[in-house]
Amino acid sequence: MAFPDGFLWGGAVAANQWEGGWQEGGRGPALTDVTTGGTVDTPRMITYIDKDGNHCAAPSHGFKLPEGAKYAVLPEYHYPNHDAVDGYHHYKEDIALFGEMGFKQFRMSISWSRLFPTGLEKEPNAEGVAFYKDMFKEMHKNGIEPLVTIWHFDTPMYLEEHCGGWNNRETIDHYVRFASACFNEFKGLVHHWLTFNEINNPIQFIDMNPHATDEDFANAYQLLHYQFVASAKAVQIGHAIDQDNKIGCMICGITWYPATCDPADILACRHAQEKNIFYCGDVQVFGEYGTYATRLWNDHDVDLDITDQDLVDLSLGTVDFYTFSYYMSQLVTTHKVTDMVSGNFSAGARNEYLKYSDWGWATDATGLQYYLETAYDRYQVPLMVVENGLGAYDTVEEDGSIHDPFRIDYYREHIEAMQRAIDNGVDLWGYTTWGCIDVVSAGTGEMRKRYGFIYVDMDDEGKGSMARSRKDSFFWYKKVIASNGEDLA
Ligand code: BG6
Repeated sequence: MAFPDGFLWGGAVAANQWEGGWQEGGRGPALTDVTTGGTVDTPRMITYIDKDGNHCAAPSHGFKLPEGAKYAVLPEYHYPNHDAVDGYHHYKEDIALFGEMGFKQFRMSISWSRLFPTGLEKEPNAEGVAFYKDMFKEMHKNGIEPLVTIWHFDTPMYLEEHCGGWNNRETIDHYVRFASACFNEFKGLVHHWLTFNEINNPIQFIDMNPHATDEDFANAYQLLHYQFVASAKAVQIGHAIDQDNKIGCMICGITWYPATCDPADILACRHAQEKNIFYCGDVQVFGEYGTYATRLWNDHDVDLDITDQDLVDLSLGTVDFYTFSYYMSQLVTTHKVTDMVSGNFSAGARNEYLKYSDWGWATDATGLQYYLETAYDRYQVPLMVVENGLGAYDTVEEDGSIHDPFRIDYYREHIEAMQRAIDNGVDLWGYTTWGCIDVVSAGTGEMRKRYGFIYVDMDDEGKGSMARSRKDSFFWYKKVIASNGEDLA
């Protein structure tokens, strides 16, 4: 069975993980530029100089810059995002390879600090604008439509260090200026936009941390509120600038299952889903907080800074479509867990019915079908799966070939799951696999956690030629796209 005509097959990357060129073209630094590499069991670190001049590093999750300290690039560390995989200089070659595979859509993000080096400038950096314009033209030449994420984890460092980042309401205005510049400058070149990547991450991270305090929850809910308002204002402006613009939300999609049929687990699962998944999607699609939001806030004595104008903005800035990343499902239980999953960004009880990747992520294609059907039933707006894939080790054979049947199997199962959801009535617009070309891992900063159809010769220490080569999955995906999803053999 074929996918709908015009189905948007493609792949996805993010500026900070693909581009590199961190000091080129007038770009300012972002937090990812002071973040080191890590592994599946050692966290990425943020580096800084404390008030006494000492070189320091602390785990990036939940990091707060100490009083009087300054973010710093320190000579004793390697920073994988500085060069990433050098998309800055290789974008023409990469886009040509995506064109060769038959991509209809390429999802990428705009580096905020490439357009607004500190975040405070009134006008965008002309060199940054020219860079992205050329990239979009290159995509069109190759028959590819851009899907642009406006914010993908890279707030300018200046805003973080001097203005309180997303804990400060004023960041809404800086973001809106950035988003407006994108809509104006790239008008006619881009029609599909996402306002924030995995906007629900802050609450997911806090929720996974057993030591999180009420203050941590309050900060996360407040920061999210500012991002919701920023997103809603951007949607209104994007529609006003070009009525052909379609603007979506992007949720980190995890399918939650109760670990047992104990009614307490069923309820806990529903509550986990509300907190981790629906909380953000509901605001962005429906334009108001869900009824359960008050309970979530009360659980942690949260008293949000929300104005009447914010509520008006939320209701006027609802998204046109809903997108999500999908990598795994997770179990929820109120019972003592003896067999825990240990991976990066995965927690809780092990599901005995599933296989886990080397990074502890549960492979669960049925969970994708479940998510698609649940989301469509709830929102009744078109959906896109804008990230999905298997982070795995690749081996380059002596003749340079790379055999990755495990990746092909993974994609086959997930494409079949999408097909079943479409058959069951889901309006699915597109599929962009994550890291269609190998990129720096966001979670661990590794290169060896590879997702691509295209291999990049670069290792975890920053050694390699950056040469690109086609894996077996490259030829397989090309066939899948050419047959519009019919030929998955
Ligand atoms: C999502 C992010 O969380 O998952 C991407 O939007 C990220 O930026 C992807 O790269 C995969 O995670 P990781 O940690 O394997 O890179």
